[in-house]
Amino acid sequence: MMVPLVECVAQDITSNGAYTFKKGDPNGIGKWYKGREIARVMGFQGMDWLDRPEREKEENTSILLQNMDVKTGDIIADIGAGSGYHVFKLASLAGKGLIYAVDIQDEMLAELRKNKANGEVTNVEIIKGSEKSVNLPENSIDKVLMVDVYHEFNYPMEMIASIKKALKPDGKIYLIEYRGEDDSVPIKKVHKMTEEQAVKEMQAAGMKLERNIENLPWQHCMVFVKN
Ligand SMILES: C[S@@+](CC[C@H](N)C(=O)[O-])C[C@H]1O[C@@H](n2cnc3c(N)ncnc32)[C@H](O)[C@@H]1O
Repeated sequence: MMVPLVECVAQDITSNGAYTFKKGDPNGIGKWYKGREIARVMGFQGMDWLDRPEREKEENTSILLQNMDVKTGDIIADIGAGSGYHVFKLASLAGKGLIYAVDIQDEMLAELRKNKANGEVTNVEIIKGSEKSVNLPENSIDKVLMVDVYHEFNYPMEMIASIKKALKPDGKIYLIEYRGEDDSVPIKKVHKMTEEQAVKEMQAAGMKLERNIENLPWQHCMVFVKN
């Protein structure tokens, strides 16, 4: 029997055909979703850059956390938490609440464990996610934070579906991405996103833009809620 060519080529093109493959940017992986090339995952070797002292000035993290309006008791998931730059700040704001710190790299998870132990923090739970799932309980999260990570998900469609499942009905996603519309932001192209692109991808997953809080120096702070 003749096997149709598209099936031969597309073993790893997801069964619903959401992804396409073509050569692009050297910092991309040659895999595209809704017209955007997915970026290469930042390796654990970049940890020092995440923890750089000038980051507060460059990204104004304090304002970002204010934007999240964290209340004691909030259940928050930091997806792609890295070394925990935002995790431990969130932990002190959430009091009796809980912060899930999710990452896929063992080295990042080890650093998170070390930082948790050093700070004697009790309201942080460290979770190993996968490329397609956040591995969080369903219907349990008030707020999801993603800083500089969504654009490097290898399976963005599956990840958003998984995040949506973990969110409570009135839960919010804070999607923080370097502004793709702004050439003055000194970040590589595939590591930036435009608002238009983010909305396109989130809408496909049944999430709508509540607002883009345009008060960070380099990043969008886009708040998405369920439709
Ligand atoms: C550029 S770092 C940002 C870390 C942190 N959000 C910060 O702002 O300091 C991106 C992180 O996302 C993680 N990551 C990539 N894909 C992921 C996935 N599917 N699930 C969870 N984490 C992921 C990487 O391992 C890396 O630690």
